[in-house]
Amino acid sequence: MKPQARRAVCPGSFDPVTYGHLDIVGRSAELYDEVWIAVFHNASKSGLFSVEERLELLEATTADMPNVKVASFSGLVVDFCQQHDIGVIVKGVRAVSDFDYELQMAQMNYGLGGIETMFMPTNPLYSFLSSSLVKDAAKWGGKISSHVPELVARRLEERFSDS
Ligand code: PNS
Repeated sequence: MKPQARRAVCPGSFDPVTYGHLDIVGRSAELYDEVWIAVFHNASKSGLFSVEERLELLEATTADMPNVKVASFSGLVVDFCQQHDIGVIVKGVRAVSDFDYELQMAQMNYGLGGIETMFMPTNPLYSFLSSSLVKDAAKWGGKISSHVPELVARRLEERFSDS
């Protein structure tokens, strides 16, 4: 009998992707056969980048990870997991303050769909990093080249020079 492929998902907003996200995705790709990056399409919250733009940036910045796939979803992450035969959600944890909410979400997701959550400690290099902080720094002309890939930095610059 063919062994079952072990699939995981890294869900999030990715508005935009940072080196912190890519660190978690890359390390997950070493542990699982297939890793999906699932961009949450939140109809009640518009981001800086459209979901299509976020997907494009994720596809470009994970092009060197052959077992990583990118898609968007709306609704519940456990439904996305069931649709793609995924058994595990991987979440990066930057600090103890992240853990409180992530633990509740993990318990909810297990109750809703029997989907396990694995917590992966963020690389300390990125423990302060978030998409929101990167956007704020970029908005005021701060240097973000050590926080996001060059393509993302360029897109941020363009976006803020438009406005
Ligand atoms: O990058 P973010 O914004 O911290 O990601 C949060 C996200 C998208 C992972 C989380 O809000 C989520 O999973 N939303 C989908 C709805 C859902 O399944 N919620 C958890 C159980 S109620």
